[in-house]
Amino acid sequence: MIAGYAQNGLGKEALGLYEQMKQEVVQPDNVTFVLLLKACGSLEALEQGKQLHSDIIKRGFQSDVIVGNTLVDMYAKCGSTEDARVNCSTT
Ligand SMILES: *[C@@H]1O[C@H](CO)[C@@H](O)[C@H](O)[C@H]1NC(C)=O
Repeated sequence: MIAGYAQNGLGKEALGLYEQMKQEVVQPDNVTFVLLLKACGSLEALEQGKQLHSDIIKRGFQSDVIVGNTLVDMYAKCGSTEDARVNCSTT
């Protein structure tokens, strides 16, 4: 469902769905995070992206190469190259 939203450019709906998922204690997986980060990137939603980043670390997905790359990409799209650099040097 999130995939459908993210791919149709409905980033806000995808992010809203994520908030709902958290309340319903559904465990998001790495694929979910990749899609959500892409949604953040296309919306330039930096604050939500940072929130996702900390959730990713909490769940241990930061070692996933695709998740890591998508994180850097999201920060770059959101214009926060500093965070993207920090992320690059720590992964
Ligand atoms: C998600 O994790 C699985 C199992 O570790 C891995 O095979 C898959 O490539 C990952 N997918 C993404 C999009 O990172």
